[in-house]
Amino acid sequence: MSTKSFNTSSSNTDAFNGNPFKKSGGESVVNGVDLSVNFAGIKAPNPFWLASAPPTDKAYNVVRAYEAGWGGVVWKTLGEEPPAVNVSSRYSAHYGQNGEVIGFNNIELITDRSLEINLQEITQVKKDWPDRALIVSIMVPCNEEAWAYILPLVEATGADGIELNLGCPHGMPERGMGAAVGQNPDLIEKVTYWCKKHYSKPVIVKLTPNITDIRVGAQAALRGGADAVSLINTINSITSIDLDNMVAKPTVGNQSTHGGYCGSAVKPIAMNMVAEIARDPATPTLPISGIGGISTWRDAAEFIALGAGSVQVCTAAMLNGFRIVEEMKDGLSRWMAEKGYDSIEAFSRKAIPQTTDWKHLDINFKTIAKIDQDLCIECGRCYIACEDTSHQSIAKLTEQDGARRYEVIEEECVGCNLCQITCPVENCITMVPQETGQPFLAWDNDPRNPFRAAS
Ligand SMILES: Cc1cc2nc3c(=O)[nH]c(=O)nc-3n(C[C@H](O)[C@H](O)[C@H](O)COP(=O)(O)O)c2cc1C
Ligand code: SF4
Ligand code: SF4
Repeated sequence: MSTKSFNTSSSNTDAFNGNPFKKSGGESVVNGVDLSVNFAGIKAPNPFWLASAPPTDKAYNVVRAYEAGWGGVVWKTLGEEPPAVNVSSRYSAHYGQNGEVIGFNNIELITDRSLEINLQEITQVKKDWPDRALIVSIMVPCNEEAWAYILPLVEATGADGIELNLGCPHGMPERGMGAAVGQNPDLIEKVTYWCKKHYSKPVIVKLTPNITDIRVGAQAALRGGADAVSLINTINSITSIDLDNMVAKPTVGNQSTHGGYCGSAVKPIAMNMVAEIARDPATPTLPISGIGGISTWRDAAEFIALGAGSVQVCTAAMLNGFRIVEEMKDGLSRWMAEKGYDSIEAFSRKAIPQTTDWKHLDINFKTIAKIDQDLCIECGRCYIACEDTSHQSIAKLTEQDGARRYEVIEEECVGCNLCQITCPVENCITMVPQETGQPFLAWDNDPRNPFRAAS
């Protein structure tokens, strides 16, 4: 891979940045609200950090990201010497019907630049940008000597903390690293413990989603002494097959392998995992850096409401460039001002009390669909959806003039939302809560529950 080399002397910094002493984008108060965060002791002017990946693999990128206004970065994962070797090609995508990238897949490894150059650049960047968070991602073999060797070198850079890459799903697990560690709670605990022993600043454990229960990994990290967790790393994936050549993408010659899935498509999976940890009684105050499909301020706000204290972005920056952070900061601060939240902390975890197990939901709550006839364009999509796959609760009527009319049969509607989801007209179908006169009743107490006595 050709990389721009970055000499850390001031004169060369000048050459890349124009004026390295004119720092921009570091204001923490935006539209009257304070976006600053103190995440497990790591301070940043805003919660928007770039995740460990190509956008953060060299000073040239990180400096421009800071100039654009990112509050922090997690440097592309460092490893042992000699550096990793990458293949060509490396990326593929899952596209929507209009050609938009819904999900992104990669088979890249950790940094393919030398440890020495990375450490030099990190040292200089932290010196030049003291107000931004700079976290160093690390992945070395699962033995104490390897960690004991690299950690003092990273500590000497002055970076604010480290993130343990225990999640890379391809290439590195075959060498006993990445997800091979992250899928084994004992190893998570052990590696975290070594890091706390040989490094004095905050240790963030980045978790793999390629497991059955994310809470197990978070609990192991906490046992090892982690200051925080971050999630998710990428999900094992094959995005598509070239049916002419019968090979998956991205292709390397005429072969392929599974990659790591990320981007917008993984956001729901990541949010659930963040919430699982945030509401786990075993990890109730463990700081969480939320990652996975964050592309807008709203995505970030949702992660924060579910327990994230900072958010990390990779794919959205790779697809749209560093400047997306401007809209993120502007949108989030405007929304916070409108809602009366004067800090990130003011709404962090706000959605957690309302996020519960199915058995605690109110069986007696009822909502039904309502069609706004003035907005309806008579496309019939709601009718087909309900008739063929839900509860046959929409009637298709024909008016005297031949016009079609769709009406909800209220007694039949179970309030599943399917018609609202399929309707192409905004606000045409709304779900209306009903006054049933019945008390709150959770399944635990429902007489229809055969296991009620036991539970
Ligand atoms: C091309 C590429 C390379 C990546 N390299 C790393 C890496 O070196 N270390 C790491 O911890 N995560 C790596 N990731 C994962 C991201 O940091 C992030 O966890 C993931 O992409 C989900 O976030 P997103 O949906 O915003 O992309 C990489 C992701 C991509 C797309
Ligand atoms: S909410 Fe569900 S059951 Fe009710 S009309 Fe719509 S699709 Fe049918
Ligand atoms: S899907 Fe929406 S617009 Fe189409 S018929 Fe149903 S209510 Fe009308």
